[in-house]
Amino acid sequence: MHARNRATPRRPAITTRPAATTRRRFLKTVAAAAGACYAPAFVPAGVLGANAPSNRITVGLIGCGHQSQRIVPSFLVHDDVQMVAVCDVNRQGYGYYYPDQLLGRETARRWVNEHYAEKAPGGKFQGCDAYNDFRELVARRDIDAVAIVVPDHWHALVAVAAMRAGKDVYCEKPLALTIRQGRCMVEAVREHKRVFQTGAQFRSCPGVRRACELVRNGRLGEIRRVRTWVDANSFEGPGPGWKPMPVPDGFDYDFWLGPAPEAPYHVERCFHRWRYILDYSNGQTVNFGAHTNDVAQWGLGMDGTTPVEFEDMGAEFPPKGSLFTAATKTAFRARYAGGVELICETRKSSATKFEGTEGRLEVNLGGSIKSFPEHLKDSVIGADEIHLPRSNPAREENVRKHIDADHVRNFLDAVKSRQDPIEPVEVGFSTASLCLLGNMAQILKRKFTWDPVARRSPDEDVNRMLSRPMRQPWVL
Ligand SMILES: NC(=O)c1ccc[n+]([C@@H]2O[C@H](COP(=O)([O-])OP(=O)(O)OC[C@H]3O[C@@H](n4cnc5c(N)ncnc54)[C@H](O)[C@@H]3O)[C@@H](O)[C@H]2O)c1
Repeated sequence: MHARNRATPRRPAITTRPAATTRRRFLKTVAAAAGACYAPAFVPAGVLGANAPSNRITVGLIGCGHQSQRIVPSFLVHDDVQMVAVCDVNRQGYGYYYPDQLLGRETARRWVNEHYAEKAPGGKFQGCDAYNDFRELVARRDIDAVAIVVPDHWHALVAVAAMRAGKDVYCEKPLALTIRQGRCMVEAVREHKRVFQTGAQFRSCPGVRRACELVRNGRLGEIRRVRTWVDANSFEGPGPGWKPMPVPDGFDYDFWLGPAPEAPYHVERCFHRWRYILDYSNGQTVNFGAHTNDVAQWGLGMDGTTPVEFEDMGAEFPPKGSLFTAATKTAFRARYAGGVELICETRKSSATKFEGTEGRLEVNLGGSIKSFPEHLKDSVIGADEIHLPRSNPAREENVRKHIDADHVRNFLDAVKSRQDPIEPVEVGFSTASLCLLGNMAQILKRKFTWDPVARRSPDEDVNRMLSRPMRQPWVL
């Protein structure tokens, strides 16, 4: 989605014009992903038989907005999946990224039913249920796993409820809205013995993996600095003096707000653009940082920990009174215990660049690698050197739809093997923590130190930002 976002005018008008292309776009995506070869890595061929219904992993989708257009096909392409239910507090409506997108639970239900109808002998299928309340979906005993594709202020509540109900979880990045919420998710995964995949899919990108392997195997010498870039905001949002709007029919706005503070409705608060508002998200620093800083952590071998020092480098925020409140310009510096520096800033395109004593290497989220000296990127990694896990051992090319589907495949294989997938909850948590702490430095406009083991700072203002109150009746 993000590559398309960049090519889009900054603020498309919100209209009620009917969607002409949404379904066609969607079916094209499933069909294209279906061209890929999917072999469950951990399951002996005989176990699944012909993927009889009883052998399929039953999945419920929670959150049927913009990103669901990638997640639904990435699940449906796998024949050992049966998507049996979808859930969204929006029945169906406009107001998402593109003016012609008609999204919500009825759209997602239709996609799923049409997908299975095409395979059904009579060409008919109506078996996918739709819910407004995720608690009804997770209470279903016939559902094995859920895909959580809701805004960040809901990730922890929905994920923990699902895991308590015995579901395995594929949860979109960034892992959590706060460090405390992330910790609750980590504890729930281990307490309930669930399989949890963080939806930071670039760990399933062959080019990103290769870049990290080159770094890990010392091709750049000793790493001194990593630069990470995050995209600029795609929308400006209403400025001071913005006026509330009537809540659209079929949209359960109070449920959408959930644990967040009460606030008047505006379309740009809710659909997709919530990511620019601190009550629901942490802006592009964390939204895209959950990808590019995740690559930094992987390349440096820092999974499970974070830097120990964070400092604002002049981040910028919207004028007071604007609807959007998150940073419009990301700029923070961090330092790991060993001295490696990480600088995260806004740039036109997201990427991660490792700088070492022997060379530099930049990898973007499409998996393209540039290096200086140039030959470094072609260096062969020997059999006895470090090799990082592969979601799909057969995959070499960097094709976005395959990256998403491979990341889901890796989750499905883990559901069967009961092993951790490529991006377990602790990994998603350490990357999210790095981004959240960087964002705190930007908000506080200062430098502070951080203890990644105790998860505390000597700066009490930082410690106060580790959790947020939840609006009743929501508690974690
Ligand atoms: N991995 C990626 O590259 C990538 C790309 C885009 C978005 N995302 C992530 O996907 C998630 C969703 O983002 P989006 O762009 O689709 O947002 P969106 O606003 O377009 O869609 C979110 C949907 O969730 C629904 N929702 C909100 N609260 C709900 C609840 N309690 N129960 C059920 N439904 C609820 C909303 O009504 C909306 O339809 C976010 O976590 C985002 O960071 C990931």
